[in-house]
Amino acid sequence: MKIDILSIFPNMFNEFLTTSIIKRAIQDNKVEINVINFRDFSTDPHKKVDDYSFGGGAGMVLMPQPIYDAVESIRTKDSKVILMTPQGKQYNQRLAYDLVKEKHLIIICGHYEGFDERIRNLADMEISIGDFVLTGGELASMVITDSVVRLIDGVIEKDSHEFDSFNNNLLDYPVYTKPVDFRGMEVPDVLLSGNHKNINEWRYNKALEKTRERRPDILEKR
Ligand code: ADE
Repeated sequence: MKIDILSIFPNMFNEFLTTSIIKRAIQDNKVEINVINFRDFSTDPHKKVDDYSFGGGAGMVLMPQPIYDAVESIRTKDSKVILMTPQGKQYNQRLAYDLVKEKHLIIICGHYEGFDERIRNLADMEISIGDFVLTGGELASMVITDSVVRLIDGVIEKDSHEFDSFNNNLLDYPVYTKPVDFRGMEVPDVLLSGNHKNINEWRYNKALEKTRERRPDILEKR
């Protein structure tokens, strides 16, 4: 899988791409990730990427030219172009499973007060990571990339995501590690019993209980 991220703040991605699971996935050639500065595509003598909004209004608006040229230089028939915007489709685990099936994602990060409406025509899909407004799409694009890359075969143990929260519309069951007794808070006996049938049953019931308590909305979808 290949992911190209278009941003005018490529430095924001340095730690993200060189840390932990994402770093390993890149090293193991499970994914290729490029951050492309679309300012480099600006035909303006000063490499401008934004301008005032026609009709007035506060803030600068990203112009279509640099983003169109950047996307057109990398887009193939296998590409899916995603625009990060709070007006997009709400992101969730199901969408992550859809995106991991794609060969090539091109993720456009908006910035400033917004982007020229015509940029929307470039995108196959618009995604929002939640009902709040970020200063730009960079963090949102990292959220998408992180959640998709961990689903690529071989990036993490399959078990680790088969039982993730939200799979089967259930939140995760609780997990414990050493010590067995921490400040009087004890690991439930069943987890120390070695009886896998009982352990699985306990985990399922706990997941159900937790979901009913915290997210009855997702339980209704089951
Ligand atoms: N850009 C700014 N806010 C955003 C959000 N909530 N989701 C995706 N992209 C964004």
